Amino acid sequence: MTTATAPGKIILLGEHAVVYGRAAIAVPVWQVTATATVVSTSPGSGCHVILPNLREEFALRSAGDDQPIAHVARLALAQMGAPADPDWRITLESDIPMAGGLGSGAALSTALVRALFAHGGRALAPAQVSALVYESERHYHGTPSGIDNTVIAWGMPIWFVRGAAPEPFAPGAPLSLLIADSGIAAPTRETVSDVRRGWEAEPARYEAIFNEIGALTRAARGAIEAGDAAALGPLFDANQAALEALGVSSAPLERMIAAARAAGALGAKLSGGGRGGNVIALVHPEHAAPVAHALTAAGAVRVIETVVR
Ligand code: MEV
Repeated sequence: MTTATAPGKIILLGEHAVVYGRAAIAVPVWQVTATATVVSTSPGSGCHVILPNLREEFALRSAGDDQPIAHVARLALAQMGAPADPDWRITLESDIPMAGGLGSGAALSTALVRALFAHGGRALAPAQVSALVYESERHYHGTPSGIDNTVIAWGMPIWFVRGAAPEPFAPGAPLSLLIADSGIAAPTRETVSDVRRGWEAEPARYEAIFNEIGALTRAARGAIEAGDAAALGPLFDANQAALEALGVSSAPLERMIAAARAAGALGAKLSGGGRGGNVIALVHPEHAAPVAHALTAAGAVRVIETVVR
């Protein structure tokens, strides 16, 4: 039996601008994980995939390529040089909320790719895992920047610029973050295409905002590497203002952000595509409980506390 896991993720700064070549910073969220287990079964039984959370089960040989897991499994098996339908039973489990901006799909795919390679006795570097998972993300989500698959494959804070080698880096001191889910579904694809329309209509204004976000992200890397949460908080707030100017914020997110700041957060912003999805708040550990309470009172359906190390 072979088991592999992958964490959730969250973007700290730089979403949207990252699609236009500016840097973004993302961190793994190890409080939630996806796990893949592979077991060899009797000869001739073929490859079966079981998704207990979704109460779904399918035979790889009869699954269409529009089944995301089947698609990734085929890509991985082909790259490994393994048979297309090995006698393996694959179980995929996850406690990462689905479609909640925490990279649930990329994490499941990452755990799957790792477990398949390990079961086949093959080693795989994070960059190779990331490239395989990106292929499947691209298949389903159009043209993602690649930040999700990258941070999940590395399992470390990542400095990410599209088209460049990702730079994993370590915080100078642990950072306490609250991740609050608005419960509002807002497909990233839609906010990304709205920003694209805005950029096409007013390129100079949008480029200026992207440049500002790029500068904030660069300053944030310095603050994180120095372990300086007090310097990082205002950078979150300024990034939120820039995201509002891009038109990807919303009243429910801004209510949660205001509540977090009023309850003592050092800074707060939306994270990911925006409109719905998550808000993140940077806190002193002793303020985590009151800020989490304020976020819930302001409408959050779930608050996850994580420490970035
Ligand atoms: C979504 O998690 C982050 C965006 O920057 C899109 C992307 O990077 O592909 C909005």
